[in-house]
Parts: sequence; structure tokens; C-alpha cells
Amino acid sequence: KKPNIAIVGATGVVGSTFLKVLEERDFPFENIYMMASSKSAGKTVTFKGKDYVVEELNEHSFDKDIDIALFSAGGATSEKYAPIAAQHGVTVVDNSSAWRMDKDVPLVVPEVNPADIEWNHGIIANPNCSTIQAMVVLKPLHDKYKIKRVIYSTYQAVSGSGVKGISDLSEGLKGNDKCEAYPHPIAGNCLPHIDVFLDNGYTKEEMKMINETHKILGDDNIKVTATTVRVPVFDSHSESINIEFENPIDVDEVRELLASSPGIIVQDDPANNVYPLARDAAGTNEVYVGRIRRDYSVDNGINLWVVADNIRKGAATNAVQIAEELIK
Ligand code: A2P
Repeated sequence: KKPNIAIVGATGVVGSTFLKVLEERDFPFENIYMMASSKSAGKTVTFKGKDYVVEELNEHSFDKDIDIALFSAGGATSEKYAPIAAQHGVTVVDNSSAWRMDKDVPLVVPEVNPADIEWNHGIIANPNCSTIQAMVVLKPLHDKYKIKRVIYSTYQAVSGSGVKGISDLSEGLKGNDKCEAYPHPIAGNCLPHIDVFLDNGYTKEEMKMINETHKILGDDNIKVTATTVRVPVFDSHSESINIEFENPIDVDEVRELLASSPGIIVQDDPANNVYPLARDAAGTNEVYVGRIRRDYSVDNGINLWVVADNIRKGAATNAVQIAEELIK
């Protein structure tokens, strides 16, 4: 039987991209239910040329026969409703940060650790957007050369902050500074502040990248640090990733390894101004890598520039790929 699907947060930025990706990949389904807050109840969303009425999410939303629910409606919504769904036999793929570090919840990037899907107890977490694109690239390198230390520096798009982030930038570009998503104007700025600050001086986004890297690669010995920055870009996160390995590397071999690994496109021809760009990655499902070069300050190090559409591979596409694994 084809699965019945629920989209929780169907009116949001990620939610509407769930629908696009499901349609593009011709995901099989019997029935599909669109859910959001009371604010959107009664509105319609279009999927595969058909209009669907949005239902208000509540305790009874999962009383009906639903097999898979894709959640992207914020952490508080997932915290409350993902367990209710799971108790009703639904398998939840949750895009929020609520369940990612829970020991009973697998945290999955299908190119990296698809086997972890098998031990789910009804909730599977989609990693943080910045983590996902880094994992696709780090996994083949860790398998081959064993990573000792990673330094992430990110340049993250406003679409990661939902509709408010997008309007703060588009209004700001018109000269109307608006600070709904951020404490400062984003137009013409770089904000070294994503999610909230923690007692250790890091932001929560930075700690997500650190902790999720350990969980997904299954190796707590990797040293990881991160600085995450919001930049005035609408779509796609860019990341400078510096990696130090235990074992010797060859830069050409690294380039070939990445080019032959799943989900990656190498764009690395600096002589012709070819390197990954946020605007080129936008609207696509792959992770782009370029500027592949040796870090001469250590024995076995490289620098990479990694770009992916944060709403697609960083969120919706990764979740749909997990759902595809579930129905295999
Ligand atoms: P709504 O549009 O009804 O507020 P974004 O991050 O792009 O702003 O989208 C957030 C998504 O999560 C929207 O679909 C939003 O629905 C949904 N959402 C937010 N809060 C809740 C809630 N308490 N219950 C259900 N859906 C929610």
C-alpha cells in the first residue's frame, strides 16, 4: 500500500518545499494531509495541481491513518506533537532541533548514515541545515583519512529564519530596515549570531554543528569548532571548512574522492572563476564543493568551500530522502 502522509507546517518555507520536492521526486502516496497553526486553518495549499485545505494541528490530528509525517513547524510544536504522532504509529521525520540529540532518536543524512534509520522508535531527526551539507562532504574524507579536527565558518542565508528572515532582507534592500528575525539589520551586514547565545559563549547554532557532527559521524573524538554567521543572502548556506586528518592526504585524490561520492558536485576551476556559489546552488538538491586546497599550516590539512540550498538539502530534500528510505 502507498503511504498516507502528513505535512506539519505546510504553509511555511520548509513545508512548501517539502511539497515541491515530493512532487519533483514523484513520492508515492495514497492520501496527503496539510497541517499548520490555527492561523492557517481553512487556507489552501496546492500539491500536484490539486488544492488541499490546511487543517489546524491538534492532539487528534494523528487519530487518522497516517504512515509518515514530515514536521517543520518549530521546536515547540515538534516537542509536543512528534511523540503524539509516534504513539499513533506514525513515523515522524522532524526538521526541528527538538529531538536531534535524544539518544533514542536517529539523526540522519541518507548519504552518510542511512542504517541509523532502522533503529528509530517513531521519530527520526533531520540535522541542522549547516550540519547536513558539511556531513555529506566530511563522511567520505573521514572514512578514508580519519578526521582529527574541523573548523567550520559559515555564511548562512536568511531563508533559514523563515518568512521573517526573508522579509527583513528584502525590506532592508529597499532601504526599510526591519528587525523582526534579527536584533540588527541584515541588509549590508554580517551577524555573528545565529540562534541564541549559550553560557559557554557559543551560539546554539554553533553547538548544533559541533554536537551533530559527533553524532552523525559516530565519533566523539573528532575535535570540532564553529563560528556561524548570518549574511545578506536569500538562499543557500556557504561554508569554509578547514579539516586536519590523522593520515596523509593528496589533494588530487581528495578532489576525485569527493567527485565520486554521493550527493556531491565538485566545482573547482579557480583559473576560470569556477567555485560553488549560493545563487547557483539555490533550487538544487546537491552539495557543491570547491576551492579544494592544502592547508600548509599543518601536516595533513585541507580547506574547502561548501555550498548547498539550505531549504532543500539542508531541510526538505534531506527529510524526503529519509522518507524514501523508510518506504524502500
Ligand atoms: P502558520 O503558517 O499557520 O503559522 P516558517 O518557519 O517558514 O515561518 O513556517 C513555520 C510553519 O510552522 C508554518 O507552516 C506555521 O503555520 C507552522 N506552525 C507554527 N506554529 C505552529 C503550531 N503551534 N502548530 C502548528 N503549526 C505551526
